[in-house]
This record gives sequence, C-alpha cells and structure tokens, in this order.
Amino acid sequence: MTARVAVIGAGPSGLAQLRAFQSAKSKGADIPEIVCFEKQENWGGLWNYSWRTGLDEYGEPVHGGMYRYLWSNGPKEGLEFADYSFEEHFGKPIASYPPRAVLFDYIEGRVKKADIRHWIRFRSTVRHVTYDDASGKFTVVVHDNKEDRDYSEEFDYVIVATGHFSTPNVPEFEGFNTFNGRILHAHDFRDALEFKDQDILIIGTSYSAEDIGSQCWKYGCRSVTVSHRTAPMGYKWPDNWKEVPLLKKVEKNTATFIDGSTADVQAIILCTGYLHHFPFMDETLRLKTNNRLYPVDLYNGVVWTANSRLMYLGMQDQWYTFNMFDAQAWYARDLIMGRLGLPSRKEMDEDIDKWRADEDNIADDYGAIEYQGQYTKHLMAMTDYPPFDIEASNKAFFAWKKHKKQNIMTFRDNGYVSPLTGSMAPAHHTPWVDALDDSLESYLQTE
Ligand SMILES: Cc1cc2nc3c(=O)[nH]c(=O)nc-3n(C[C@H](O)[C@H](O)[C@H](O)COP(=O)(O)OP(=O)(O)OC[C@H]3O[C@@H](n4cnc5c(N)ncnc54)[C@H](O)[C@@H]3O)c2cc1C
Ligand SMILES: NC(=O)c1ccc[n+]([C@@H]2O[C@H](COP(=O)([O-])OP(=O)(O)OC[C@H]3O[C@@H](n4cnc5c(N)ncnc54)[C@H](OP(=O)(O)O)[C@@H]3O)[C@@H](O)[C@H]2O)c1
Repeated sequence: MTARVAVIGAGPSGLAQLRAFQSAKSKGADIPEIVCFEKQENWGGLWNYSWRTGLDEYGEPVHGGMYRYLWSNGPKEGLEFADYSFEEHFGKPIASYPPRAVLFDYIEGRVKKADIRHWIRFRSTVRHVTYDDASGKFTVVVHDNKEDRDYSEEFDYVIVATGHFSTPNVPEFEGFNTFNGRILHAHDFRDALEFKDQDILIIGTSYSAEDIGSQCWKYGCRSVTVSHRTAPMGYKWPDNWKEVPLLKKVEKNTATFIDGSTADVQAIILCTGYLHHFPFMDETLRLKTNNRLYPVDLYNGVVWTANSRLMYLGMQDQWYTFNMFDAQAWYARDLIMGRLGLPSRKEMDEDIDKWRADEDNIADDYGAIEYQGQYTKHLMAMTDYPPFDIEASNKAFFAWKKHKKQNIMTFRDNGYVSPLTGSMAPAHHTPWVDALDDSLESYLQTE
C-alpha cells in the first residue's frame, strides 16, 4: 500500500513540501500519495493578497495579513530558493526588495514549473486531526467550503504548514471601548491611504510596527507615534515620528503613556504580533509555543517528538524563510521516504534542549541570523536540497541591518549579491519613498 501524506496549507512551507516530493519523483523515486488541503482558493499563503478582513465568504477567518504596497522587509538574497533562482524566474537580475506581487510570482513560478497544483484541494479547511494508536493512522476531518460538506480521510503522515502569522495577538488597553476612532490589529491593515492626514498610534516595535508606520508615513499620514513595551526601535525617524513608552489609557482621542506624556490620535494600530494557533489539531498533537527560533517539542525544528509521523514546517520565528522551509521540507520528505532515520525520544529531547540553550545565549540580531543560518545548513546537509552559500546569505542580512540603521527610509534602495548566482542586484529604478506603484510590471521595468 502506498503511504498517504496530508499536507495542511499551500503557502511557501506547504508548497516547499510538495516541491520536495516532486523533485524526488522527477529523479525516479517512488513517492507516497500526497494530498494538500488549502482553505483559500489559491496558493501562496500570506503572499496571496486579499482585500478581505475578518471572515471570508464562507465564514472562515481570513488568513492573509499582507497589505497593499507591501515590499519585502528583508533582502531577497536571504530567501532565494536554492533550486530556483530569481534570475531563472525573471530572466535577469532584479532589485533586492521586491513588492509582494513580485514575490508571489516567484513562489508561483517554481511550483508551476513542478506541475503540482493537482495535489492541492483548494477551499478545503482542515477542521480536526486525530491519531489512532491501534491503526497507526491519522484521521483528517476536512470541510469543503464550497459544497459546505464535511468528510474525513486517513493518512499515514501529517505535515502542518499553516503558518503562524495569521491569528492576531490583541491586547486591550484602558479606554478602548470608548475611543473615538478606529482600533485595528496589523492583520486587518490593508491600505495606508486610509490613514492619510491622520495622527496614528502604533503599539509594538517589531517588523509590523516599523513597516506599517513607514507605509502610513510614505502615503501621507500626519504623524506617527510608536509606543513600546520593552524598548524603542531607535531608528532615525522622520520629524513627524516619535517613540514613546507603553500606552496606559485612552480617553476620547487622547492617548496617555506610562511616563505621563500624551498624544491626540485618530487611529490605533496594534502591531502586537501573532499567536501560534492550531485549533484543528487534537490537543495531544498540538504545538504550543511562543514565537522563537527553536520551538518546543520539534526535533530538528520539524518532527513532533511524541509522534514522529507528525511534522510541522515553518513554525520558527523567521529571519530565513523560503529556503529554510525548503530545507525542512526536504528533511521531512526523506524521513517519510525512509532515507533518514530518527534517534530515540530521549536523544531527540536532549538535542532540542541543546539548540534551545544555544538560542538562549544569542547576544543580538546578528547572532540570531547566524543561528538560523546554521540551523538551515544543518538540515540541508542531510538531504539533496541544493547546498547554497549560507554565509553569503548571512552577509546580505548583516548588510541589511546596517543599511536600516543608516537610514530606515532608504534601506530598500540597496542591492546585494545572490548567494546562488553571484550576481549583484541592480538598483531599483525609483527610490522606495517615491515608488508608489507596487505592481510587478512597474518593479520589473529597467528604466
Ligand atoms: C505582514 C507580513 C509580512 C511578511 N513579509 C515577509 C517578507 O517580506 N519576507 C519574508 O521572507 N517573510 C515575510 N513574512 C513571513 C511569512 O511568514 C513567510 O514569508 C511565509 O508566508 C510563511 O509561509 P507558511 O507557508 O509557513 O505560512 P503562510 O504563508 O501563512 O501559509 C499557510 C497556508 O495555510 C493555509 N491554512 C491555514 N489553516 C488552514 C487549515 N485549517 N486548513 C487548510 N489550510 C489552512 C492558509 O490559507 C495559507 O495558505 C511576512 C509575514 C507577515 C504576516
Ligand atoms: N514585508 C514586510 O515589510 C513585513 C511587514 C510586517 C510584518 N512582517 C513580518 O511579519 C512577521 C510578524 O511580525 P510582527 O511585527 O507582526 O510580530 P512580532 O515580530 O512577533 O512582534 C510583536 C511585537 O508586539 C509587541 N507586543 C506584543 N504584545 C504586546 C503588548 N501586550 N503590549 C505592547 N506590545 C506588545 C512586542 O513587544 P516586545 O518586544 O515588548 O515583546 C513586539 O514588538 C515577521 O516575520 C515580520 O518579518 C513583514
């Protein structure tokens, strides 16, 4: 009997898994039967933009949290697929910080070439996954959204690739109930023009805060106030931008911070991160973690130690993304195909403890990048995923950090060397602050 593998989610992680199996098949290997369940009507995960917020047309929580005019916040040289370079896809070197539509096109290009769309059941939301010790099988309960029909199927392996940046973490502050303006989480932010001429308050200091603030500034908001719980971001911000301590309360439109200072604002955007949220997994199979580089209970960051037929992809906090998901997917594939084995549970737990202890000793962001590069390299060494120059990727990330420090509004105007092709990315034709058109066509223009 051919083993059956369920892949949940057709974002970059799930697609990496499909491509990993297709790659083995193209080299003549017998592969298991693969069924990928995707609740949206297209692939690409977060990169598949939707204007919708809240619930979709079938009453499902909207997965997407990307917004109009979103450009990559890190250099593309850090995420390039090792088996499919940007140059192969676009036919020429392109600039280093592509807008969302360009990255979507790149993600799609590889899987179109691999011809794996027929493995995916779209509009299929996985509702519940259980495991039966006696039969050694998983039962996956699926909702066919279009037909409004539930059905279940049995699988030998389950791979969870549903991402972890879609269920918002939404704290409440005193006075929110009576605030005279809009309060939203970053997950529901879609268009910076909504906040043109407004004074906005952002809570949080990570990538969403930095980027949504920058977007609103670029598209003409009047002022940006960013409130921090731990520490300010500390970039050289424009004059109409300030960083303040944590919000204490709001009264009408006045926000008061814990140092007693105040700001009058018309909108509050909670850039307060996301929850790892897997309500569809039986509790005995459910990953419970905060957002970190080495989550609990996953050997090699992938294998559920209590039941190694269950794997999770892409659950780490992310510096590396697409190529790390690939390294994980190739590793998961080789475990399933019996090309690789696993040590005892005790050895797996000890190994996890070691990685987590190393993570706890990371001094700064540079150390975190090196750590995740090392993790990706460790996985790659076990499979036939084409090895790429991790040090060159780290170098692009380090240069990115320095460029942000130099000028947070111009860092996207820099270019870096591809770790795959060695080509230097050309400068984009328009500085990011002046580039209001984020379309693929505009980005690929050479003049
Ligand atoms: C606003 C934002 C901007 C980002 N920008 C960048 C960037 O510039 N560069 C970068 O490298 N990374 C960026 N990221 C990080 C992002 O996490 C990764 O790039 C990538 O999308 C993760 O891929 P994934 O497949 O693991 O998860 P996702 O992209 O989240 O895909 C998961 C898929 O699973 C599906 N799914 C979920 N639940 C179910 C279910 N129950 N049943 C069936 N299907 C389900 C979803 O519909 C989705 O298609 C950004 C993240 C956010 C939130
Ligand atoms: N392409 C792009 O431009 C782009 C744009 C946006 C997001 N992203 C990606 O999206 C992912 C998620 O980033 P994110 O910034 O949304 O989440 P995140 O990195 O997890 O950061 C969460 C932030 O929320 C703060 N926070 C959490 N709870 C809080 C509370 N109760 N009160 C005050 N502050 C609180 C945290 O502060 P502490 O530091 O105090 O914990 C932290 O600053 C990342 O991978 C990022 O790269 C990319």
